[in-house]
Amino acid sequence: MLTSVDNKKKYSIITYGCQMNFSDSEVVSSILNKHGYQSCDDFANSDIILLNTCSIREKAELTIRKKLESFKKLKKKNSNLKVGVLGCMAERLKDKFLIEEKIVDLVVGPDAYRDIPNLLDEVELGNNAVNVILSKDETYGNIDPSRFNSNGITALVSITRGCDNMCTFCVVPFTRGRERSRDPKSILREIEELKSKGYREITLLGQNVDSYLWYGGGLKKDFKNASELQKKCSLSFSKLLDLIANKFKNMRIRFTTSNPQDMSENVLNTMAKHKNICNHIHLPVQSGSDKVLKLMNRKHTVNDYKKLIDKIKEILPGCGISHDMITGFPNETNEDHRLTIELMKYVKYDFGFMFKYSERPGTLAYKKLSDNVPEKIKQKRLEEIIHLQQEHSFINLKKFIGKNCEVLIEKESKKSASHWAGRNDQNIMVVFPKKNHKPGDLVNVKINNNTSTTLIGTS
Ligand code: 5AD
Ligand code: SF4
Repeated sequence: MLTSVDNKKKYSIITYGCQMNFSDSEVVSSILNKHGYQSCDDFANSDIILLNTCSIREKAELTIRKKLESFKKLKKKNSNLKVGVLGCMAERLKDKFLIEEKIVDLVVGPDAYRDIPNLLDEVELGNNAVNVILSKDETYGNIDPSRFNSNGITALVSITRGCDNMCTFCVVPFTRGRERSRDPKSILREIEELKSKGYREITLLGQNVDSYLWYGGGLKKDFKNASELQKKCSLSFSKLLDLIANKFKNMRIRFTTSNPQDMSENVLNTMAKHKNICNHIHLPVQSGSDKVLKLMNRKHTVNDYKKLIDKIKEILPGCGISHDMITGFPNETNEDHRLTIELMKYVKYDFGFMFKYSERPGTLAYKKLSDNVPEKIKQKRLEEIIHLQQEHSFINLKKFIGKNCEVLIEKESKKSASHWAGRNDQNIMVVFPKKNHKPGDLVNVKINNNTSTTLIGTS
């Protein structure tokens, strides 16, 4: 371990992928700081560069690979530079990166971050260092993330890790392991700490937050074997949400991601009960065709999903709803694609993240289904749904014109130094003239214009 301030080794972390990865990078940074390393923004001056990687689609992996290639030059200039791969690419590509191509010095999977200081010691001794073991109970509950990339106003708080859903297209259950929930005490302690530092908004994070279940630790799948007492004292997501909203009345609370089969009416009622829980639900559906949903091993039908959407609109009128959608999944026909469009027209989402299917080695779809929708058709279908989403977003955002929104100021607008940017309750970006407000203020903004992604107003 390094202790002297002058001798501190400098590290930089580059993060790719989802919010969970950004949250994990803050955990890694905290572990390294505690062990005498120092964070650094400049690669050229770093002793260690860590890439927190994403495997969700092939394109993400290719981008990271290019970045790794670019560090070869830096390594030539600075023979002491160490490069590490963290996160989702670790397990699948460890041998390739470490042994075959020798382009990295250490490889660490998402559940092994506490081991990074030891692994770095190994690297110093000239050894390759690798730990990709997945855990049954690691949630990093007692680690205060270092918030090194933070705006000081909004923060991510991880509440579950891993995923048990096994959607056939998805690598996450393989790269991040089984689902486990974090001790509510450590969640509350982390939010308390954030509050004391002046943070105004938290986003509770997990691959499947509605499936949160604390019964004293352990995998979600083992809950059925828990004792009666454990079952009686268990804490569900709606109860956790209620607890947090009651305890932190001056903080805005968001959560992501929800899965249709796990989102209960209790969660919707808890959202309705608390003004400080933001009115936005990210509810991936992936396809509007029951045939495709079945092939994807999604645990809901289109009808279940529509009923849930109706419930959300009934209990939480005006709630923002967003989605994830995949086009060109194996065997997807024109008719399946038409059903996806029909579902989008039914829900009229506020925004969404849309992707072409990307075959991932190791997944069930890779093993059992042929990636048989031609690239051109995937692309055409993707463009169609993106275009439709833009239309819906524009129409939905237009409805805000003339209305007032409560906006939490996060930062300066990217397009204008005289405007602030922040999000409203529905998670829509709002920009407005700065006047004498400051980041962290909750401001009433009257909306007078919109694009398909942003509301424009005055305070
Ligand atoms: N191909 C395309 N998109 C995918 N996603 C997950 N796996 C794949 C894949 N193999 C998308 C899903 C998911 C989001 C995080 O990424 O829509 O909800
Ligand atoms: Fe992947 Fe499905 Fe789990 Fe989301 S719910 S992380 S898409 S397996």
